[in-house]
Amino acid sequence: MQKTYNVTGGTILVFPGGMPKSLEFLQQCVTDGKTVLGASSLAHDPTRQQYPAWAHLPYVTDAGFDAALQALVASHGIRGIYTPNPVIWDHLHRTLQALAPGVALLNTSPADAELAAYRKAQAQVDAWLHQPLAIGVGQPVRPGASRLQLAALFRHAELIPGMCDREKMFALGEIARHAVDGDIVEIGSWWGKSAFLLAWLARCYGIGKLLCVDPWSNAHLVQHDATGLVDQVSAQFDANEALTVFEMNLLPYSHDHVNYLRLPSELGAQHYRQRREVQTEAFGSTRYQGRIALLHIDGNHTYAAASADLACWSGLVNAGGWIVVDDYIWPYGNGPQRAGDEFIARHQGRIATAFVMGSALFIQLSHCLEEQHATQD
Ligand SMILES: C[S@@+](CC[C@H](N)C(=O)[O-])C[C@H]1O[C@@H](n2cnc3c(N)ncnc32)[C@H](O)[C@@H]1O
Repeated sequence: MQKTYNVTGGTILVFPGGMPKSLEFLQQCVTDGKTVLGASSLAHDPTRQQYPAWAHLPYVTDAGFDAALQALVASHGIRGIYTPNPVIWDHLHRTLQALAPGVALLNTSPADAELAAYRKAQAQVDAWLHQPLAIGVGQPVRPGASRLQLAALFRHAELIPGMCDREKMFALGEIARHAVDGDIVEIGSWWGKSAFLLAWLARCYGIGKLLCVDPWSNAHLVQHDATGLVDQVSAQFDANEALTVFEMNLLPYSHDHVNYLRLPSELGAQHYRQRREVQTEAFGSTRYQGRIALLHIDGNHTYAAASADLACWSGLVNAGGWIVVDDYIWPYGNGPQRAGDEFIARHQGRIATAFVMGSALFIQLSHCLEEQHATQD
């Protein structure tokens, strides 16, 4: 939302009042206790009922527009105007000072506002490309994604709600280039933000297919965080709705290479060890390799759960594969950190590299932790 208003007293004109951004702005004004007047050039604008006061204005192309606006400003004591329409905004940007001295145009250019996130994504990628991570030196690297592909990834990831900080996204992108072949398994997907990223990386770098393992159940959201603040928020979520949101977020990006098990991690690992096929109504049937190139652990963050996730799944990671423990740095508890540190201490001789970036711990195995077993079909 473009928010720049600084109007004290007087009325704010929102025009055209029916545009989605106008309605968002109206809500913000109502919350802030501002006096708002909506206006439209339509004879019957169905959104007029949402405004406390309403007026008609001619189309901006009409010869009488400027005079009608001046009259409206005078009759309603208008001190500021909000318009998400780029043509009206441009006209007012050029003429408002002369038409109605003292009346402010409250928002910045609508086109600039729409494009800001695309420009930011490109700037992020440029910074990324100029500072590649010094990992896997001497190892084969998959050909890098183009600047455009990475900017698209960043931009679209931003549209999905969830927790995946920029540094972690950057590091995931880098380790994906250095990944061996195999499945990508995510423990804990919720609305699908990191899953989207992993699905995209899996396909872009031709690593393998993505399997998301999550019970999507409120009971499993309980983290027993020290202050109880996290658990209090989690209790307000609807896990069934979260799964639907996950499906909506991942479906457009699945090219028969994404599926999920609606199971807690331990049961998911049992299924994965015994069968290579996963079937859901949303994604159809997906066949996995049964060995993991990248394991992303972002499930329940208690020490017991994070340790169990590592214990159940790490043995299935290929030599050269990666294990990412999310929220290694976490303000609400140290479960993932204790589990991650213990894992590194226990398997020191089989770890090629380990580092922390953003909130996550990244571990690359030099050797498998478990002998490879044949899986049943
Ligand atoms: C922090 S959220 C995941 C966030 C997600 N990765 C993202 O990018 O926004 C934690 C998730 O772990 C899931 N979870 C909790 N217990 C689990 C378990 N035993 N096995 C697998 N997932 C679990 C929860 O249902 C929740 O979806």
